[in-house]
Amino acid sequence: MTPETLKRYASPVPRYTSYPTAPHFSDDIGANAYRSWLAALPAGERVSVYMHVPYCDQLCWYCGCNTKATQKYEPVSNYVDVLLGEFELVRAALAGERRIADHIHFGGGSPSILSARDILRIGAALKDLVEFSPGMEFAVEVDPRSISEDRIAAFARAGVNRLSVGVQDFAPEVQAAINRVQSFDTTRDVISGFRRHGVNSVNIDLVYGLPHQTRESVARTIEQVIELSPDRVALFGYAHLPQRLTHQRLIPEDALPNMTERFAQANRAGSLLVKAGYVRIGLDHFARPGDRLACGEVRRNFQGYTTDDAGTLIALGASAIGKLPQGYVQNATAVADYQRRVEAGELATRRGHLMSEQDKVRSLVIERLMCSFHFPEKELIERYGEAAHEVVEEAQLLLQSEGDGLVAPDPDGDGFRVTEKGRLFVRSIAAVFDSYLGAGAAQHSAGV
Ligand SMILES: C[S@@+](CC[C@H](N)C(=O)[O-])C[C@H]1O[C@@H](n2cnc3c(N)ncnc32)[C@H](O)[C@@H]1O
Ligand code: SF4
Repeated sequence: MTPETLKRYASPVPRYTSYPTAPHFSDDIGANAYRSWLAALPAGERVSVYMHVPYCDQLCWYCGCNTKATQKYEPVSNYVDVLLGEFELVRAALAGERRIADHIHFGGGSPSILSARDILRIGAALKDLVEFSPGMEFAVEVDPRSISEDRIAAFARAGVNRLSVGVQDFAPEVQAAINRVQSFDTTRDVISGFRRHGVNSVNIDLVYGLPHQTRESVARTIEQVIELSPDRVALFGYAHLPQRLTHQRLIPEDALPNMTERFAQANRAGSLLVKAGYVRIGLDHFARPGDRLACGEVRRNFQGYTTDDAGTLIALGASAIGKLPQGYVQNATAVADYQRRVEAGELATRRGHLMSEQDKVRSLVIERLMCSFHFPEKELIERYGEAAHEVVEEAQLLLQSEGDGLVAPDPDGDGFRVTEKGRLFVRSIAAVFDSYLGAGAAQHSAGV
């Protein structure tokens, strides 16, 4: 890969965990739309659930999530009260009908900040809202520096069966520069603790492109991660957006790896994981060959890559984004705004997006590119007919004009495929089909 090509495709682009992406949601969609969309869910429609906890014990300086550091537990317990209020409001909008859920995700922030009692209260509210399917996957994001045995037990009792643990990097110099000092032993003990409680499926989150990281330090972290034997690994490129996220200004910019080094780190980490037997999933996930993610059809949602194929995602908590057959809904981001709405007896929807036919076509294209590196021309024409012609023409134009070998015609004549060389640039290739990109003031991270 030449530095010129790298530069050309590494310009800022979204991560495409949705299409359109959240910055393009509008204020036109609010609580009334959400209530009517929930009421209109077809009978028997299965759902997924996402719950957000916007608190952490301390702030990691690289963090891009919607969270706040708190030393006291009071704001967290107040938040749980409001969250339980939101559960009731959603339950009422669903007319009390318990839908079957195959996927539940408890994210943040750090849900591991919750007390055992609050974990169990939320677990009970969840069971009132949905019925757990027999093969249900219930994941929780955990900051291993701040969890105790009783909370691990509470998560297991609430039904959690998958642990997602943040590591980022084990090198002390990197950890000091990102304000996240977390030893290998702490991480190993937390994973063993969850395994002792029957939570056997483990995901580890890593980040490349952090200050002081080198491909050698990334390689050492990967070796240690392999020792922990996770079922899945997510390897994110550090998204540095200090204009929007002021705490990221504490990151020493002169210690950030450049584009070529980022690219080399991502490649080194990926090839070590593949050598250790992991299967590459989409852009930045890896899974053991027996893991569901490596077996079934992969989809893309706000948590990244998933096997979740439900058409409806019920999202609870400040800033949480839900998806319904009609479109997206996002709750108020600021906790005070979220709280005010719920306490007024309103659903907390602050913005959203009603999907047009064109949006649905482009959303499918972008999801397929991000997941299977394929532009599925035949499926598009079959499902959307006339409405798909514009994107099919755009795909043909891309194939004719792209001169770097990042895309190639599909061998069976069904659209095109992203080549091995093009995989790391799939976000930039997907961006070709994004008709919102460039509109508004959205800021995105580097394409590699
Ligand atoms: C939503 S966080 C929550 C996990 C948990 N609080 C923890 O940190 O252990 C999930 C993951 O997102 C990733 N992440 C957070 N900020 C990021 C950024 N600016 N760029 C890339 N990845 C980031 C980290 O790998 C982190 O573990
Ligand atoms: S990375 Fe995790 S622990 Fe660190 S601030 Fe972000 S959400 Fe909190």
